[in-house]
Amino acid sequence: MSSRVPLPYSPKVLELFRDPKNLGKIKDANAQAMAGSLACGDMIAIYLKINDKTKVIEEASFESYGCAANIAASSVMTEMIKGKNLKKAWDVTWEQISNELGGLPVVKYHCGVLAVGALRRAIRTYFKEKKIPDWMPRELTSDEKHALEEEKLTEVLSKKVEKSRKK
Ligand code: FES
Repeated sequence: MSSRVPLPYSPKVLELFRDPKNLGKIKDANAQAMAGSLACGDMIAIYLKINDKTKVIEEASFESYGCAANIAASSVMTEMIKGKNLKKAWDVTWEQISNELGGLPVVKYHCGVLAVGALRRAIRTYFKEKKIPDWMPRELTSDEKHALEEEKLTEVLSKKVEKSRKK
């Protein structure tokens, strides 16, 4: 019998975990990105279909290889950003996502951070070959750094594991 105590997920998290919205790829997405977390080994991919003229997000979807909070956070985030222009979508925070979900357990805050990190990375990807708008910070934001640091660490660790296997 497991001695693990179930996490106090809100009804909304459980509902979206069981029936997530906007799950899957968008075939003609014009921006997409992934982010991963070493803390748990989870990954998230975000797909956006952006109107090139108005810069409004017409479609948003995700794929998650992660926990219930990761799935619920990604699902609610895609709902929150649909119909928003890129500036407004950029300004969505993990705290707002958590509020929309009726709160996340403290140990699951990083699941929301990861979703925002992936979203901002996707928006940066969209502007890769375009003029970067004034509202977009040139420096990485803390959510993006968080995703990046964890990924770098994962890379270092996997190289170490590979090295030790070859010995
Ligand atoms: Fe890792 Fe949720 S525990 S994203």
